[in-house]
Amino acid sequence: MRVLVVGGAGYIGSHMCKLLAGRGHEVVVFDNLVTGHREALRWGRFVEGSLHDAAALDALFTQHRFDAVIQFAASIAVGESVREPLDYYRNNVGGTLELLTTMKRHGVRRLVFSSTAAIFGTPQYSPIDENHPHAPLSPYGHSKLMAEQVLRDAAAAGHLDAVALRYFNAAGADPEGELGEAHDPETHLIPLLLKAALGQVPPVTVFGSDYDTEDGTCVRDYIHICDLCEAHLLALSYLQDNPGFSAFNLGNGKGYSVKQVLAVVAQTIGRAVPTVMGPRRAGDPARLIASSELARSKLGWQPKMPELETIIRTAWRWHQAPGF
Ligand code: UFG
Repeated sequence: MRVLVVGGAGYIGSHMCKLLAGRGHEVVVFDNLVTGHREALRWGRFVEGSLHDAAALDALFTQHRFDAVIQFAASIAVGESVREPLDYYRNNVGGTLELLTTMKRHGVRRLVFSSTAAIFGTPQYSPIDENHPHAPLSPYGHSKLMAEQVLRDAAAAGHLDAVALRYFNAAGADPEGELGEAHDPETHLIPLLLKAALGQVPPVTVFGSDYDTEDGTCVRDYIHICDLCEAHLLALSYLQDNPGFSAFNLGNGKGYSVKQVLAVVAQTIGRAVPTVMGPRRAGDPARLIASSELARSKLGWQPKMPELETIIRTAWRWHQAPGF
């Protein structure tokens, strides 16, 4: 297949490009390099551009006949989305709309879309399956849910076929050490802990220890980046026989508290990790755990690296010798 990876210079997108190329697919990356990394663009052809540039998108689709598109390009910081909601709706909804309009014009039907557990808001039950009500707590979550609605409506009108994948907590890195997670500023727990262990950032603040969980800290479902990318490949195949709109939750179905993550990090890397206790971060639900039964049964998805220790070991390898 010839696959367009929008946002292919980012953390998840770059791992996706390596996987696609490794499986013999032709990859074209479209990325504005605002948060992505040029150094991560080692697989496929690269076209620099913005989803807000309709002419650039049109030229891209005129030049290449794509069999499918994977849309990773988005703004992803929950806190920032509360401060700058217009940017989030513009990027995550507006940008996706422009992409879909171009796909429709050029007759490209298949899309896999990066969605998030943030569309569910505070869980009403756990683990969270696809029937769980949607009640986002932030403009970020709302923007992803709106984009899903656009996909649902466009699919119902017969314009395209789409799978939305709702990621829980993506973490870890390419086991060969070629790619990793590098956000600026970094806000995610696992890379922050590794950076703190390396003395690159101040001690990590544990956001709240008075939650209604076993040890009082928030519980999350961490999923290895490579298992996440495998699900995208399976979704592309699924679309061949299953037109319309589908959505799948992706996690390992196992929760770890912040304190548990800390302990596994310290044990895996054999170093102390400096942390301090702090107040809650606004908008953090106590517990987010996925049911991925649907992805397992419909996509045939089977995570290969479900252990938190493996997730941390691969991330640690990259953080000790980051390529960028
Ligand atoms: N945490 C800390 N200190 C920090 C950073 C995080 O205690 O410095 C805690 C958070 O409170 C949370 C856990 O570690 O309980 C994980 O936090 P992350 O920031 O790594 O991830 P989130 O769970 O907040 O969010 C991630 C993605 C979102 C996505 C969400 C869905 O970043 O895009 O998962 O589950 F929406």
